[in-house]
Amino acid sequence: MKEFAGKVAVITGAAEGIGRAVAEEAAARGMKLVLADVDAARLDATTSELRAKGADADGLRTDVSKPGQVDDLAALTFARFGRVHLLVANAGVACAKPVWETTPGDWEWVMGVNLYGVTNALRAFLPRMMAGGDEGHVVATASMAGLLSLPSMAAYNASKHAVVTVMEGLHHDLTLRGSRIGASVLCPSWVKTRISLSERNRTAGELTKPEALDPVAAKVVGSVHKAVAKGIEPSQAARALFAAVSEGRFYVFTHRDSKAGVKARFEDILSDRVPTLVRL
Ligand SMILES: NC(=O)c1ccc[n+]([C@@H]2O[C@H](COP(=O)([O-])OP(=O)(O)OC[C@H]3O[C@@H](n4cnc5c(N)ncnc54)[C@H](O)[C@@H]3O)[C@@H](O)[C@H]2O)c1
Repeated sequence: MKEFAGKVAVITGAAEGIGRAVAEEAAARGMKLVLADVDAARLDATTSELRAKGADADGLRTDVSKPGQVDDLAALTFARFGRVHLLVANAGVACAKPVWETTPGDWEWVMGVNLYGVTNALRAFLPRMMAGGDEGHVVATASMAGLLSLPSMAAYNASKHAVVTVMEGLHHDLTLRGSRIGASVLCPSWVKTRISLSERNRTAGELTKPEALDPVAAKVVGSVHKAVAKGIEPSQAARALFAAVSEGRFYVFTHRDSKAGVKARFEDILSDRVPTLVRL
């Protein structure tokens, strides 16, 4: 998909961070927007700011982990614009704990937003995108944690690995049908957002008590906070996404050294080595 002007983009997790930056980039390219986020106040502010800059934008408060709410988002979008050309299933949350401390509520929350948020969107939007017959593209935001296995991030790693394989399978499903819809998976490394404060929007299970983390997990969490704070600007991730969509690339990385970690992991697998620890 090379032309964006006048086309319709739907972005989840669009109130702030990477999703907001994708919305800004889409608006700058002349796209019409439907923005979704669980944080109604920030979503309204973002939608209003984009409109003030001239964008044709609507927002709908949506918890992507709830299939019915994502169906409502699709209904609003198709009623408003009739078509969707770019779907960016980006909403995500992080939970930093080793697997033995990850509660059923943690799993429900993280898988609900990160994995089912993506699958709910694909189910709600793709049939009508395909039936529309237009060229289009779907992007899901995974993470380098979808290709590597970070310590003390059991649920996050699992959810993002699941997103990568869902999108790889989707690519095959679309290609086998000769579809005009392309697929990509965005695997950011550290981006300066509020991802480390994900529990501000927690919709399932009980809140984490940071003081309950063991010293090893607490150290990992501290390193993640620092890495995110020193990360690239969300606008850089958004530009990487649009470059990949226009070039029809599937795996979308945000950092030059991303592939080194992937190579090390696959060399571990092919060489029967124990997993190399990812240094944060
Ligand atoms: N920031 C990073 O370093 C980084 C790295 C790799 C992957 N990612 C991924 O990028 C995506 C965007 O995260 P970000 O870094 O911009 O973080 P962020 O916290 O700044 O933004 C996430 C957005 O998702 C929204 N959200 C949370 N739960 C939701 C729900 N149930 N339904 C709808 N919206 C919901 C939040 O309100 C927020 O606006 C996530 O999928 C995240 O896992 C981020």
